[in-house]
Amino acid sequence: MELLDLIQKRQSDRQYEARPVDRELVVKCLEAARLAPSACNSQPWKFVVVDEPQLVLQVGDAAAGMGMNKFAKEVPVIVAVVLEKMNLTARIGSVIKDKEYSLLDMGIAVEHFCLQAAELGLGTCIMGWFDEKKVKKLLGIKNKRVPLLITLGYPAGETRRKIRKSLDDMSSWNKY
Ligand SMILES: Cc1cc2nc3c(=O)[nH]c(=O)nc-3n(C[C@H](O)[C@H](O)[C@H](O)COP(=O)(O)O)c2cc1C
Repeated sequence: MELLDLIQKRQSDRQYEARPVDRELVVKCLEAARLAPSACNSQPWKFVVVDEPQLVLQVGDAAAGMGMNKFAKEVPVIVAVVLEKMNLTARIGSVIKDKEYSLLDMGIAVEHFCLQAAELGLGTCIMGWFDEKKVKKLLGIKNKRVPLLITLGYPAGETRRKIRKSLDDMSSWNKY
């Protein structure tokens, strides 16, 4: 598939079929994330795949709240993305340049994951809204942040048209 077609195809899917996802396919998505670039090749992430139905339900429940992310209770797989410590050079660079490289890195890796999923006919939804404390407890994560969860499964909803700023609004040439 052309890369732009794949990028068009990827969308936030909030409705999934009940059928499970083969671990082999999940591993392909993990491999795509593993190959993502990062500041000083620091790779400050760990992807925790949750596919035990009872645990998925509990993690999904921790994502649902205040009318948000109800769909997360009915997904076959949820991946928790843990923020790991950057390597020394990335940490020094982060401080000197006052930029949080690790979150930028994680965003790129997560999108790699989602694009590979789309290529395999799987749907994803990146979620930043969830009870992080509950998720950490459920997955045995201590003293680390979990900035994002990703739902994964066979999409059951429609493919939507993308609503985005125009090229003129989001880019310019040679001057701001
Ligand atoms: C960092 C981040 C956090 C997000 N958090 C949520 C979330 O908690 N719940 C949700 O339903 N969608 C969430 N989204 C999905 C966005 O709403 C979605 O990407 C955006 O509306 C564009 O739509 P599309 O992904 O279908 O192209 C999140 C996306 C990102 C990148």
